[in-house]
Amino acid sequence: MPEYATLGCVQSHRPPPSLLTRRLIVVVGKGGVGRTVVSCALALLAARSGRRVLLAQTKSKDRLGQLFGVRRSFQEIQPVLDNLWAVNMTPEAALREYGIMVLRSAFIYRQVFERDIVRAFLRAIPGLLDYSMLGKVWYHTTEEIGGRPRFDLVIMDAPATGHSVTLLRIPEVILDTVPEGPLTGPARACHELLTDPARCQMFPVTLAEDLPVTETIQLYGLLRNHGFPVGPVVVNRLYPPRFGAGVSALALDALERASDLGPLEPLVQSARLLRQRAALNEQHLRRLEAALPLRQIHLPYLFVPEFGFEAIEELGRRLEGQVEDPPT
Ligand SMILES: Nc1ncnc2c1ncn2[C@@H]1O[C@H](COP(=O)(O)OP(=O)(O)OP(=O)(O)O)[C@@H](O)[C@H]1O
Ligand SMILES: [Mg+2]
Repeated sequence: MPEYATLGCVQSHRPPPSLLTRRLIVVVGKGGVGRTVVSCALALLAARSGRRVLLAQTKSKDRLGQLFGVRRSFQEIQPVLDNLWAVNMTPEAALREYGIMVLRSAFIYRQVFERDIVRAFLRAIPGLLDYSMLGKVWYHTTEEIGGRPRFDLVIMDAPATGHSVTLLRIPEVILDTVPEGPLTGPARACHELLTDPARCQMFPVTLAEDLPVTETIQLYGLLRNHGFPVGPVVVNRLYPPRFGAGVSALALDALERASDLGPLEPLVQSARLLRQRAALNEQHLRRLEAALPLRQIHLPYLFVPEFGFEAIEELGRRLEGQVEDPPT
């Protein structure tokens, strides 16, 4: 497998798509719908348009190496391509980093957080431990090197639906419950970032299928209720719209009426299946459109034997031109 990092990154001279000029994009959605591959494709597109991007995964399956075609472990921030870095955060490692940052001392951190009693306490409140990952993400949006941001854009590949809402709400919960102190300053800044549409957008990813669409509609309601700006909805793995209209549809209709198709039978069956899948997709796209005031970004089902860098590049190309703010 080629080491794409050593090949460098082909940069376009076009300005970045407007939605990718935010500081933070949070990719949310139901388990398995493609949050990780969409995060990678967005990150690649942004990096190629000249933005310095950090892709931050939240305790995901370790697949970044395979998706970017590099042999590397992403427990810590690693360079992937020109302008693109990635990390697969774990709560424990993020807590150490974030704790040291908030307490401004590795010594105090060890004294406080590495005591068994504190560890047990943190484990008993899973949201609090997870908050360290969100804190780390926020921190990287503020980091500067030589007077300029270390990263122009951070893309967070968030956990699956319910878990991500709990996670995103923690800064607000801290502000409501914890007295003013070392935790509240970063929590306030993080909450302000997460609720500022000029700096942050949530990108729900879904499939145009029954359960994912239902869950996306519910997720949108939850996110909006808590004041999070929701960007376009990415509809992934769409079947090609074949045999739905025009000459091909008429031909399939005629073949279906024929009494004996002989060896053509399996072909006609496959075409019928494709037509049914595309029609189902279409029906759920309309449901989404009716329920959500969001622009839709459409990504095709890629029929590839192995989902790797070429597929991410293809999805990145498909995203181009679709990740723009709506005209005002
Ligand atoms: N557009 C696509 N075409 C074909 N296959 C796809 C497409 N998008 C994603 N997949 C496949 O779907 C699977 C799930 O994708 P991905 O890992 O990005 O989902 P996820 O939402 O991050 O899942 P998890 O909840 O496990 O983190 C992957 O194995 C990938 O190969
Ligand atoms: Mg994932």
